[in-house]
Amino acid sequence: MRIPIIAGNWKMHKTVEETKNFWDTVKNWQKPSGVEAVICAPFTALPALADAARNSEIGVGAQNVHWEREGAFTGEISPVMLKQLGVGYCIIGHSERRAYFAETDEAVNKKAKALFDVDIVPIVCVGEQLEERENDETKKVVKRQVTQALDGLRSRDVKRLVVAYEPVWAIGTGKTATAEDANDVIAYIRKVIADLYDQQVANEVRIQYGGSVKPDNVERFMAQPDIDGALVGGASLDPASFRALVEGG
Ligand code: G3H
Repeated sequence: MRIPIIAGNWKMHKTVEETKNFWDTVKNWQKPSGVEAVICAPFTALPALADAARNSEIGVGAQNVHWEREGAFTGEISPVMLKQLGVGYCIIGHSERRAYFAETDEAVNKKAKALFDVDIVPIVCVGEQLEERENDETKKVVKRQVTQALDGLRSRDVKRLVVAYEPVWAIGTGKTATAEDANDVIAYIRKVIADLYDQQVANEVRIQYGGSVKPDNVERFMAQPDIDGALVGGASLDPASFRALVEGG
């Protein structure tokens, strides 16, 4: 039985003060049981968010990490640094990082391994560009991304990670994949993992959908058998909307 996970990805939004205001609005909310809720905040907001959320039922995630523990990597943040803040999740391979910061499948793989070394759960993003979808290459693209991201990972780690399937053309555009199409690709990703590991591992991996998820469409995705939650950008910024997303999850 997979527990659905709704993760907000704040991207480059919210100052420390705005983060505290968000928290003040959600802190007395009773999260429904049977669904995990996570907020992935920018680095500068993580200390305040992690402190506030420490004994709460809301998990805290980062949006990027370097794979080395320390060193001459100006501007980077290591897995150990995140761990010491109390971060439990980290998005890797987001399409914005792949497109604007040249994040490769190889880097995603190194980051996944480094995160597991400090017991942080990676949220591995995969998804096709519009042109790839139009050329009927969606499955080929996600197979390559998943296979390379997981290369060399132990099955006990793979069972714990989260995959986020985000068709790039659906991110921030208001366009969503149909729930059935999203489920079809996600079921395929599960099959790729079954072929790489075994069916039991594949049955335990949680795979989210992401791309213009909102409170009024989240339930449609959640009703699909292979979709285990959502990675949500814009609609996670407002506290009432974030709560509604989790309640719909
Ligand atoms: O990480 C989240 C995704 O990029 C989706 O963003 O919900 O604003 O479309 P969005």
